[in-house]
Amino acid sequence: MTSSPKLVQAKVRARSNIALVKYWGKADAALNIPAVGSISITLDGLWTDTEIRFDDSLNADRLVLNGTERADQLDRVSRCLDLVRAQAGTESKAWVTSENNFPTGAGLASSASGFAALVGAATAALEFDCPPRELSILARRGSGSAARSLFGGFVEMHKGEAADGSDSFAEPLLAAPDWPLSVLVAITEKSEKAVGSGPGMALSAQTSPFYKDWVTFHPPDLDAARDAIAARDFSALADVSEWSCLKMHASAMSTVPPLLYWNGATVDCLNRVRALRADGVPVFFTIDAGPQVKAVCLPGAEEDVRRAIESVPGVREVLATGLGPGLERLE
Ligand code: DP6
Repeated sequence: MTSSPKLVQAKVRARSNIALVKYWGKADAALNIPAVGSISITLDGLWTDTEIRFDDSLNADRLVLNGTERADQLDRVSRCLDLVRAQAGTESKAWVTSENNFPTGAGLASSASGFAALVGAATAALEFDCPPRELSILARRGSGSAARSLFGGFVEMHKGEAADGSDSFAEPLLAAPDWPLSVLVAITEKSEKAVGSGPGMALSAQTSPFYKDWVTFHPPDLDAARDAIAARDFSALADVSEWSCLKMHASAMSTVPPLLYWNGATVDCLNRVRALRADGVPVFFTIDAGPQVKAVCLPGAEEDVRRAIESVPGVREVLATGLGPGLERLE
């Protein structure tokens, strides 16, 4: 008698997030424990949909990303799936099919939504009941920023103190509807970046003369952002977010060889946003490890901000979104 292979599947959506207080640097590379905490917002309109199908007849995992099989990214995905398999008690390999509705690998946090969706889909498919804190720890092992993408609205990632990373997890601070903000993303380049965040921050830690101070002076920024969010104080959140962004990029730029993630249009957008803010428009900028500029504003300012950044030469497209929810089960 032959038994048919076990086949379990699930499909989920996880949204991208952008950090307002940035994560840059690791306390432990093997366990992917961040050297600093971070605070982010989850973006409603930028997401990864991932379907996982565990299949006993497979002898290796398979990954299809945006319609193309990506053997080059399989190792990182399989290592994260191995952690889920170990906890869920299975050795089955999986088909992973993932689609991003935004450019992959260009500073729009595709690894954040990607690994959040991966652990969300894998645990759902295996019917492994994983509490949110533990799920965020699994996502962190795939990508630090992914721990935050499991939750909606404003989210804090704790760096933790434990050597095993058991207190390095993310949790929600404030739900999206409790303080609606708009985010306009100026896309200035669509190709994948040359140096990803992980290798970039490792190099900064090794070579930037400013890295030690970046880590030392980071905790007050978390306190300031947490307080600003609790008080819905836009101006205070704007100040600390822009400062954290520029300090992170100062660490990156002072790396050897230097990591300059910006192009001319990035700088022009940044200046446009600063000029608007100086004119009293409630808006601030943030930039991750890539050339896109995210302008965060109060919803009433969205059209002014869009007009201002859309007309910057070199801006190819402006995406507009609000803040969104955490992980969603699709099927
Ligand atoms: C600049 O989460 O991509 O976007 O943990 O190595 O996967 P790994 O790094 P990743 O780093 C994100 C860095 C950042 C800032 C942030 O999102 O906090």
